[in-house]
This record gives sequence, C-alpha cells and structure tokens, in this order.
Amino acid sequence: MIGSRLSGNFLGLSMRMWAVVLFAFLVSLSLFRVFNNLNDQILLLTDSRYKIEKAITKLQLDSIDISRRRLNSASDNHNHSGEKDKDIDDDIVIIYNRVPKTGSTSFAGVAYELCTINKYHVIHLNISKSSRTLGLADQRRFINNITNWEEKKPAIYHGHLAFIDFSRFGIEKLPIYINMVREPLDRLISYYYFVRYGDDFRPSLKRRKAGDNESFDECVARDGDDCDPENLWVQIPYFCGHHADCWEPGNQWALEEAKRNLLHHYLVVGITEELKSFLAVLEATLPRFFRGAVALYNEGSKSHLRKTAKKFPPLTETVEKIQSSLIYRMENDFYTYAVDHFHFIRQHTIGRNEDGNLVVKDRRFMYEKIRPR
Ligand SMILES: *[C@@H]1O[C@H](CO)[C@@H](O)[C@H](O)[C@H]1NC(C)=O
Ligand SMILES: *[C@@H]1O[C@H](CO)[C@@H](O)[C@H](O)[C@H]1NC(C)=O
Ligand SMILES: *[C@@H]1O[C@H](CO)[C@@H](O)[C@H](O)[C@H]1NC(C)=O
Ligand SMILES: *[C@@H]1O[C@H](CO)[C@@H](O)[C@H](O)[C@H]1NC(C)=O
Repeated sequence: MIGSRLSGNFLGLSMRMWAVVLFAFLVSLSLFRVFNNLNDQILLLTDSRYKIEKAITKLQLDSIDISRRRLNSASDNHNHSGEKDKDIDDDIVIIYNRVPKTGSTSFAGVAYELCTINKYHVIHLNISKSSRTLGLADQRRFINNITNWEEKKPAIYHGHLAFIDFSRFGIEKLPIYINMVREPLDRLISYYYFVRYGDDFRPSLKRRKAGDNESFDECVARDGDDCDPENLWVQIPYFCGHHADCWEPGNQWALEEAKRNLLHHYLVVGITEELKSFLAVLEATLPRFFRGAVALYNEGSKSHLRKTAKKFPPLTETVEKIQSSLIYRMENDFYTYAVDHFHFIRQHTIGRNEDGNLVVKDRRFMYEKIRPR
C-alpha cells in the first residue's frame, strides 16, 4: 500500500520524486534561515562596528580644543548659502589700543557711528587707575573673555592699554590689532593744553591742570616737568608692551620691540595726520566693520576731529630744544617708521579716481590651474 503510494503518481511526478523535492525544499528552507541568521549577525556586527567608530570619532572630537568646537557649531548655525567670508568676519575681534591725544576719540566716534548699520559691537575697556598695563592674570582674563564672548562678536574693543601678545596665551584665533600714531611733539603739545583747557568734545569736564595758564614755551624755557622730554615716551611703550624695559624712557630695545610689534602684530597702524586715508584702508580691508567710514568722514557731522579747546603753536626755539633731546629722536624714529609703513600699505591698497576721491584698488590676484577639476 505504502509502496504503491510511494510508487504512485501525482501531477506526473513519482511520489519518490516528490519526497526528494520536499526534502530539498526543507533543506533550502533551513539553509535560508541559517543564512538569514548569518546575515543578521553580519548586520549586527557592521552596526556595532559603526557604533564603535562613531564613539571613537566622538572621543577624538572631544579631545580637540574646545574653542574650535564652539567655532564649528557657531558656523553650523549660520546660513551656509551665504558667502564663507561673512561667517569668518562675524567672528572677528578687533583691538584698538588707542594712544591718548592721537585723534583716537575721533576714530572711536566713527566706529560708534557705524556699529549699528554694520552690525558689530564697540566696547570701551576702562582700566582702573589709568594704568596702561595689566597684571598677567588680568591679561589672561581679558583675552579669554573677549575671545569667548560670542554674543558681542564681532566687536571692536578700544582702550588705553599697552600691547599684549595674545599668541603667548595659547588661544587659537587671535584678535586683530589696529592703532594710530601721531608726530610726538604735536601729541605732547596737544596733551599739554588738553589737561589745562579741555577740548570741544566734553567742554564742561574739569581737567587735571585747569587754571594753570603757563604756555608750553614758558614751560620748556624753564625746563618744567610737564614738558620734560620724558613725557614724549608714550607711543613706543604702547607698542612695546608689557615688558619692564618698555617703560624706561630712552631704552633702545623698547624702540626696536615697538617697531617689531607694529610690523608683526598690527594689521595696520594709521597716522593721525592722515585719518581719512586710514579709514579708507580699513574700509577696503575690513568692510564688515568700516563700510561707509570714508563717506562718514567726508560728511563731517559727529566724527569731526576733536579739537583741544586752546592750543598755541610753539616757538622755533621750543621746537629746537625738544627736538634735540634723545627721547624725542627715538619717538620720532618710531613715528617715521610707522609713517613709512602706513604709506606703503596705503599706496598698495587705495588710489584716487579722476575726481580725486579715494577708491579701493582692484583685486590683483586670481586663481587658475585648479586641479583636480
Ligand atoms: C538661509 O538662506 C536662505 C536663502 O538666502 C533663506 O531662504 C533661509 O531662510 C535661510 N535660513 C536661515 C536658517 O537663516
Ligand atoms: C572709568 O571708570 C572710572 C571708575 O568707574 C570712571 O570714573 C571713569 O570715568 C571711567 N573712564 C571713562 C573714560 O569712562
Ligand atoms: C565677559 O565679561 C563680561 C563682563 O564682565 C561678562 O558679562 C561676560 O559674560 C563675559 N563673557 C565670557 C565669555 O566670559
Ligand atoms: C596766568 O594767570 C595769572 C593769574 O591767574 C596772571 O597773573 C598771569 O599773567 C597769567 N599768565 C599768562 C601767561 O597768561
């Protein structure tokens, strides 16, 4: 019976054949399940490998400097459809460590006028006791604060602070230094009368030497303290910085250090006598901050040069006496160095059109032979 059943036919195939087919089907089914299982295992392995890689990447990222990560996430929030330049400029911090009586109030005035339109912050750094230097801990606090204060970026900080070399503090993105210098005797005379008579900027403010009506000439003639050539030792220490020798009038190393810093650490140092060109160079180089600066200067309005209320031109003998001093010669050496450097920058950055107006020189570089395409 069984034999006959097994030897029977069904749909043209022998029962034996059917048994083979069934067997083959069962075998392939279990094989399929085994393979499926293997596949799952492989997927699982791949998945865990991916997870491990991710964890390792995360660990590596974690060990990268914190400030860089903050920078990346900050730029991620930005709209990538815009130009890359914009993102970079939005992170800029400018330090203008202004020297008193070099037209710095006029310059700061321009920065304040433009900050709303150009969308940046201007912040005054007030150092207590009119000190021009900071202790090491304060230097670090200052640099940490301004490089991490994201809500206030981009920003211009201005204040009477001697140069600090921020690269010594191990930060990744250095601020941009700018400044202005002035002919040293003019600066001293301006300062001399300023502390006696004030200026047209805050006329009601009572100045340190108010009521003292001695002229600069009289002071020089009697070798007074207020007009002593040592008082000329100002611009060199501002650019020289936080080393003790910087503050020793007549120190030769300080003069050289001031020149080195001007050349290597300042984007550009303008000349009080050429404020408009300075603004033009800045407008050409840092339009994110200074777009409209020259137009504003031409307009005059608020950004007019602040003028010391009373000022008497010095006598020839006064000028000769001051100019023969060592301190004057050194400060003047630094000043002429700054002028030469500024003129070189100006000449290569801006020009004049047919109407005599300042214009930005055309871009003189391009890229080519970019490989691979
Ligand atoms: C990014 O820019 C595009 C086009 O300029 C704009 O439509 C979009 O709203 C912007 N997105 C954000 C998050 O600002
Ligand atoms: C700096 O701060 C002191 C003390 O708060 C203040 O008297 C002085 O007017 C400030 N200086 C400037 C230029 O605002
Ligand atoms: C920087 O200093 C200001 C004023 O002290 C403070 O309000 C701000 O939170 C500081 N920012 C950072 C990033 O430390
Ligand atoms: C300075 O003022 C005093 C009195 O306040 C006066 O006697 C003197 O002549 C004045 N000197 C000059 C140079 O104006």
